[in-house]
Amino acid sequence: MTTDPCAVRAHDLGKTYSVRGVKGGVRALSGLDVAVQRGIVFGLLGPNGAGKSTAIKVLTTLTRPDRGTAEIEGVDVLRHPDRVRRLIGVVAQRSGSDPRATGRENLILQARLYGMGGRAARARAAELLDRFDLAEVADRLVKTYSGGTQRRLDVALGLVHRPSVLFLDEPTTGLDPEARTAMWAEIQRLAGDDGLTVVLTTHYLEEADRLAQRLAIVDHGHVVAGGTPDELKGELRGDAVHLELPSGTVPGEVRAVLEALPSVREVRIAGRGVSARSDNGAAAVPAVLAALERAGMPAAAVTVARPSLDDVFLRYTGRRYAPDDGRDDRHDDRRDDHRDGHRDDAPGAAPPGTASPAPEASTGTPARQEAAK
Ligand SMILES: Nc1ncnc2c1ncn2[C@@H]1O[C@H](COP(=O)(O)OP(=O)(O)OP(=O)(O)O)[C@@H](O)[C@H]1O
Ligand SMILES: [Mg+2]
Repeated sequence: MTTDPCAVRAHDLGKTYSVRGVKGGVRALSGLDVAVQRGIVFGLLGPNGAGKSTAIKVLTTLTRPDRGTAEIEGVDVLRHPDRVRRLIGVVAQRSGSDPRATGRENLILQARLYGMGGRAARARAAELLDRFDLAEVADRLVKTYSGGTQRRLDVALGLVHRPSVLFLDEPTTGLDPEARTAMWAEIQRLAGDDGLTVVLTTHYLEEADRLAQRLAIVDHGHVVAGGTPDELKGELRGDAVHLELPSGTVPGEVRAVLEALPSVREVRIAGRGVSARSDNGAAAVPAVLAALERAGMPAAAVTVARPSLDDVFLRYTGRRYAPDDGRDDRHDDRRDDHRDGHRDDAPGAAPPGTASPAPEASTGTPARQEAAK
């Protein structure tokens, strides 16, 4: 066992996929560093194509980086992938369960793949069905499950062998708000009561803000900002003041009025909406409203908000955050091998010649993939 307080470490990870027709390939990772303290929920946040899933695949032995190092609980991912696979659970971006089997059957199969005997596998399945509130649907085919139920089963499958680090790649994408809230509670419970280290990727700023004790914002294959959600937000000094002005106001005049006030700065105007920053938004509002009133442009509405992760995101990536729900253009793990132009030699990676995997088989846990060989 290691005395390193970090359960996951990655240093300078680089990965370029070779893609036919794209000269030089597609760079997915370019010097990604992360260190995840044991027992926390760590969020990797970033836009489409930032490299989040590739980072997870490297850390979970499903693909090899071109450069860099990675360790799970002090075990080298590249040198000892089999040992690493015992330490981790993976819930991939797409479900890894078999829709034509029941939840219980999926869990038992998974347990057997990890080498448990029949009786132990059945007991572990029953325990997890209970733990994840799946007992009622345990003997129904997975294809009849709702999205949220299916995702809970995915998490249960990732935990069968009692890993110490759980990787969740977009655990709540596509879930309705109720199922998402339930999943959040579950994830919090895993890291809290169960002491697991959870690494999750997400498109949802709110999710990252709420769940993750520490965050890394990933853009173009590396981490552009990291810290606790509060630290990141704290870097944006003050509050955001948003105003809605009557139609017909002249932007230049609004700007002149607001920029003359010492209590606000960074005035941005978009149509009738105006936003500015202030060290103390609530205190600045009366002066702002009075100045606009005097200038004959009384504000129709005003709100004061603490900086959000959205603001943080804008600052570090130069773009507004626009989550893209329900995408169906996801790469599955097996396709890596073909597009890479080489076969990954991580033992968990799928063999060549499996060009059209059934969707449900596309992103299982490493053990499931290995068993599919
Ligand atoms: N198997 C692959 N073959 C070729 N290119 C790939 C493959 N997987 C990912 N890429 C490319 O690598 C880059 C990073 O992709 P990755 O899936 O890691 O991003 P992501 O942050 O997980 O995105 P998303 O939020 O959409 O899931 C993208 O440009 C993507 O198109
Ligand atoms: Mg992804």
